[in-house]
Amino acid sequence: TGKFTYDPGFLSTASCNSTITYIDGDKGELLYRGYPIEQLAVNCDFLDTCYLLLYGDLPNEGQRKDFHGRVTNHTMVNEQMQFFLRGFRRDAHPMAVLTGLVGALSAFYHDSTDINNAQHREIAAIRLIAKMPTLVSMAYKYSVGQPFMYPRNELSYAGNFMRMMFGTPCEDYKVNPVIERALDRIFILHADHEQNASTSTVRLCGSSGTNPFAAIAAGVACLWGPAHGGANEACLNMLEDIQKMGGVAKVGEFMNQVKDKNSGVRLMGFGHRVYKNYDPRAKLMQETCKEVLLELGLENDPLFKLAMALEKIALEDDYFVARKLYPNVDFYSGIVQRAIGIPVQLFTAIFALARTVGWIAQLNEMIADPEYKIGRPRQLFVGSPRRDVKPLAERG
Ligand code: CMC
Repeated sequence: TGKFTYDPGFLSTASCNSTITYIDGDKGELLYRGYPIEQLAVNCDFLDTCYLLLYGDLPNEGQRKDFHGRVTNHTMVNEQMQFFLRGFRRDAHPMAVLTGLVGALSAFYHDSTDINNAQHREIAAIRLIAKMPTLVSMAYKYSVGQPFMYPRNELSYAGNFMRMMFGTPCEDYKVNPVIERALDRIFILHADHEQNASTSTVRLCGSSGTNPFAAIAAGVACLWGPAHGGANEACLNMLEDIQKMGGVAKVGEFMNQVKDKNSGVRLMGFGHRVYKNYDPRAKLMQETCKEVLLELGLENDPLFKLAMALEKIALEDDYFVARKLYPNVDFYSGIVQRAIGIPVQLFTAIFALARTVGWIAQLNEMIADPEYKIGRPRQLFVGSPRRDVKPLAERG
């Protein structure tokens, strides 16, 4: 005791050196490999962003084509995975299903399970990025009892996912380019976020030398929690609850509950450990939200109006101002996804799909670091000192 620094929640401990993502929480700035998220969201697509995160810079034309080819080569999953999936209840939460499916990949792809082998890691990375949309859409199709849709490689990453989600074998599915772009943007905005809880989980899990699929499954499990990736689902449920209470007219009443520390109610989609300013992803998401609602003729969507009203009040309220609480990425992403037709229960799985590349890039960075060791935090022991075991009859 006394030898180790006590830092619950890692408020002031840097766990690694990293060159991938930079966040300036006071300014509300987010850079992937030095490029501002605002520029990536407008000028690049998700696969460009994946390449950037994995290899350190944006691809040129040849590299882009080659990378797209490598990813699309791996979009199918082993047919046996269907039987594994069919073992779940139809009403299983998609995150429970996804944790199982991603972990199970290690049982199918034995040639990419050695985390210390760069070639294995490379192929595992491509496989995971390529297969996540297939797995998430399979989990969805299973939950609604529809046939699985095989991937179509001539479509974009987001377009293929939309078709696997919403298409059926009965008719041709037409990808709406506005929705396709919105979904692609959701993926870009969620692709990485430095040492958040799930990424730290992936690093810690991978540091034991486990296989890459197992490490990413650990990330999926961590992301599920409502304080992390589960916040988008929790946020939409919150908006629906307020709507049932009476909508915009009840916003003041709801805010009083949030400010009452005994209520245990939080304004979901608000606040962040690092951002003490507007989360730049939330700004882009709000823009996307408007575009999607307009495209779908939902510009009067009551939940969007409600979210705007909540945001306005919160940004002017002393409670939120004093604590520097601003909307985070999850505040508007649920409204966009709901408008697209993605069921609430699937929101966090979409987040996991997009974050997979960040997890892998961070895992690769850790393994390539010559200073990398198994992650093994220490503790300050505050329990009983040494004592002797009493016979059962003498125990109180
Ligand atoms: N509503 C009401 N009060 C809040 C909120 C909120 N959403 N967030 C923080 N606070 C208060 C909190 O009660 C505390 O007050 P006090 O200083 O009086 O005790 C203060 O603000 C600081 O909060 P904290 O919980 O100590 O901050 P943290 O850095 O440990 O937590 C957080 C960050 C994101 C977990 C938290 O803000 C939260 O629970 N937000 C709601 C859930 C959410 O939207 N999560 C998504 C995060 S972004 C996407 C992702 O990472 O997955």
